[in-house]
Amino acid sequence: MRKIAILAALFAVSAHADPSFETLERGRVLATAGDCIACHTAPGGAPFAGGRPLPTPFGVLVTPNITPDRDTGIGAWTDEDFIRALSRGIDRDGAHLYPAFPYVYYSRVTREDALAVRAFLNTLDPVRNVVESNQLPFPLDVRATMIGWNGLFFEPGVFKPNAAKSAEWNRGAYLVEGLGHCGACHTAKNVLGADRTSRPLQGAVLQDWFAPNLTGDLRTGLGGWSVDEIVEYLATGRNARSAASGPMAEVVAYSTSQLPTADVRAMAVYLKDQPARAASGVAPMAADAPAMVAGAAIFQDSCTACHRQSGEGVPRLFPSLKGSAVVQSDDPTTVVRVVLNGALAVATDAAPTAPAMPPFGWKLSDPQVAAVATYVRNAWGNAASPVSAAQVHELRAQLAATSN
Ligand code: HEC
Ligand code: HEC
Ligand code: HEC
Repeated sequence: MRKIAILAALFAVSAHADPSFETLERGRVLATAGDCIACHTAPGGAPFAGGRPLPTPFGVLVTPNITPDRDTGIGAWTDEDFIRALSRGIDRDGAHLYPAFPYVYYSRVTREDALAVRAFLNTLDPVRNVVESNQLPFPLDVRATMIGWNGLFFEPGVFKPNAAKSAEWNRGAYLVEGLGHCGACHTAKNVLGADRTSRPLQGAVLQDWFAPNLTGDLRTGLGGWSVDEIVEYLATGRNARSAASGPMAEVVAYSTSQLPTADVRAMAVYLKDQPARAASGVAPMAADAPAMVAGAAIFQDSCTACHRQSGEGVPRLFPSLKGSAVVQSDDPTTVVRVVLNGALAVATDAAPTAPAMPPFGWKLSDPQVAAVATYVRNAWGNAASPVSAAQVHELRAQLAATSN
């Protein structure tokens, strides 16, 4: 009898300690959707062992080690500690984490899914790596300041499915609004760094990039993209219209290109259902305006080899500037920075060679960059506000200072 009891106890323990293969695989996919590896890996460092500096508008945070090392990682955390961190932004000691860790989004993850992510993380090799996360200036380095912030801007709570929508739409909403934390970059922030919830996914500036509007706006959003085109972009980093570079190249490389196609498609279905905000009604600049004439000449000289006279580029090689949301965004940060610094498109398994956009900052002056940017924003039926030399000057200085 006693033997059986011991065996039963052993079995119970091991059943608890060894989650099923299905759970681990689900946890791996969910951790991929959450892109944990991108933030929690230092350049050249061990995956998930932390140490990556993350610039925020308030100072630098360094990501902690989330491997199962008991002393320097999260190996000693209970499942409840882990769930509390994801769902409420509170660490094992009860201290408040900063929202650069996207708990505002992860809070929407179900308990079952959070446990699967934990189970997956438990299978990683424990790596010893001590990290001092909090390198913010006083008074922001006081974690208790987050209590007030959370009170104002954070509504914890698991995602609630919308019964009026399909299962696919709901899966997409769960991923986009939860683990995918797309709004962390694509939703504008207020002065305290919280989402402007009145303008969800309508575009935002981060780290000297502009993450474009993902709602149905025809000119500045995904209105003209089909579900298939969104799927192709997320799965391969490019499509016939656009190419992912900078922070979005990372999202594609570590997260969306590694997800099951059904999940990527679900995200696309959800995004295609986001209504455009009221049209901003920008009229294109006249072709004979001085900036347009100067810009056309620079474009002819420096850009047509790849983007073509028609601005349509070459599908999947050189993005189309005609009809591009990136080009016509209200905020021209991405267009200007790409002309100044160039850009490297992402290489994925599905599209292994990454075409590059050369930098022009060394050869074009601020007024010249402003002119060519103004031109591409207003040629071929595009329409957007002109770019000034002062805007170019400011971004150039910022890029030089941060070497972003
Ligand atoms: C956008 C970057 C980013 C992503 C993506 C991200 N994290 Fe983090 N995470 C952070 C930062 C920054 C901190 C430290 C915050 C602080 O010190 O207040 C952190 C802290 C944590 C902590 C607390 C650890 C400790 O020692 O206090 C856990 C647990 C955690 N992250 C797990 C995850 C998991 C799981 C995922 C994927 C589902 C993930 N993170 C994705 C940036 C990120
Ligand atoms: C770390 C910041 C960041 C995160 C997180 C992020 N994006 Fe992006 N995204 C960007 C930036 C920046 C661009 C513009 C990149 C470029 O033009 O090459 C972009 C571009 C895009 C585009 C192309 C738009 C166009 O008109 O060319 C799509 C589609 C997109 N993101 C979808 C998503 C989805 C879906 C998610 C969540 C799964 C997501 N993004 C998460 C920063 C981010
Ligand atoms: C040698 C080929 C080449 C030349 C010349 C070139 N580009 Fe590009 N351009 C590219 C490639 C490749 C990309 C895609 C890189 C990425 O964004 O991932 C790109 C991207 C862009 C983008 C971002 C589009 C998007 O959807 O993210 C803009 C804007 C742009 N180029 C403008 C220009 C302008 C203006 C000029 C001339 C001053 C120019 N390019 C010259 C190859 C080129």
